[in-house]
Amino acid sequence: MAQPLIDRALGIIQKNDKGAYTVPTHGLYPFQWNWDSALTALGIAHHDEKRAWTELETLMAHQWEDGMVPHIVFHQEDDGYFPGPDVWRTGRPVPTSGITQPPVCGFAARRLYDRAEDKILASERIRSLLPKIDAWHDWFYRCRDPRQTGLVALIHPWESGRDNSVDWDLAFERVPTDGVEPFERRDLQHADASHRPTQAQYERYIYLVQLFRSLGWDNTKLHDASPFQVVDPGFNAILIRSCSDLSDLAELLGEHEVAARNRAFAEKGIAAMETLWSEPNSQYLCLDRKRGKQVENASVAGLISVFAPIPHKRAEQIAGRIMDIGRRTRFLVPSQPTDSPFFDGERYWRGPAWLIVNYMIADGMEAAGQHEVVARIVKDSLQLIEQSGFAEYYHPNTGEACGGKTFTWTAAMVIEFLSRSREMA
Ligand code: GLC
Repeated sequence: MAQPLIDRALGIIQKNDKGAYTVPTHGLYPFQWNWDSALTALGIAHHDEKRAWTELETLMAHQWEDGMVPHIVFHQEDDGYFPGPDVWRTGRPVPTSGITQPPVCGFAARRLYDRAEDKILASERIRSLLPKIDAWHDWFYRCRDPRQTGLVALIHPWESGRDNSVDWDLAFERVPTDGVEPFERRDLQHADASHRPTQAQYERYIYLVQLFRSLGWDNTKLHDASPFQVVDPGFNAILIRSCSDLSDLAELLGEHEVAARNRAFAEKGIAAMETLWSEPNSQYLCLDRKRGKQVENASVAGLISVFAPIPHKRAEQIAGRIMDIGRRTRFLVPSQPTDSPFFDGERYWRGPAWLIVNYMIADGMEAAGQHEVVARIVKDSLQLIEQSGFAEYYHPNTGEACGGKTFTWTAAMVIEFLSRSREMA
């Protein structure tokens, strides 16, 4: 069963391969996206290690001088996507967006290294990536945690990678829409409107882009100026994991200063994660930093947290929570619990299951020794593929394919899951 699916997955990645980077899918997302690329590199590595390193290098080549790594690199013109470079106006030689995305790169580099058959090649490639990833992590804690709490805030929902999550609804109410320049969305030409964010949300997304643009994309100002500042436990867990993985790699290469800095970030982050814990929900919740209040919504953000080396007790509690959700949901892991009044099974991050999220949760659960949860997540993920193909995301009860089809990182995750099943067989 595995090989034909792996071949199909490789076919999708190849179709979306532009030589030195991949696009998430032609049409809907025709450029390079940050965390898509880094996670896709894991799938590519199974058949071409060199090409996998190139994927990370191309992404990091567009890092800003201040350390930020943008969420989109507009390598070539394509008017099928909005907002394009004419809206961001970041002034980069190769145009980029002006915000970031979940920093999975440190984690991906470590995983590529651990699995590399060619360790000499891997060490060489890491040596040049290391200072860049380190600078990105440092940028996060400088610019997105100016009061040094140990946790970084997002200043735009797109940074989370979970664009229209219910988690942002309350904080988003503070974002006005006056002065938003007229625009034409392009996503609706490629995907069903009922699977996508609403018009009102788009106006607020663009308001924030215009605000940051008016401040010259100066990251020493953006955090405090943004009406939207949310601390996302999933995002922070990804950053902590990447810091911890980068620290191990740095140690290996004898880069002790980088190792110590990233270890300190990770340790402080793990300790601070405790402030996001919600005992009644048995998981972590977001914090609305501007309001100083927890966001009372038990979304998948608090489950992704297990991707970081959180305390064993917390991982155990989250495992219980996931199994509980699993009793009410056909396919794990829904981005919003299916019994929530805000659940919408087709609408992007307000209910659907995403394979990259499943992968990160399964990975963390594995490290925590929660094998029952891992087995269920892997089984559900593979069934989704068999039933509905390599979609962007899936209805967690019907398994319906939603959003864009033939999606690169979904294909990469399938290769990961199948290779893992093979290793365990
Ligand atoms: C959407 C997703 C985001 C992803 C991008 C490209 O914006 O929410 O996580 O990176 O599409 O696939």
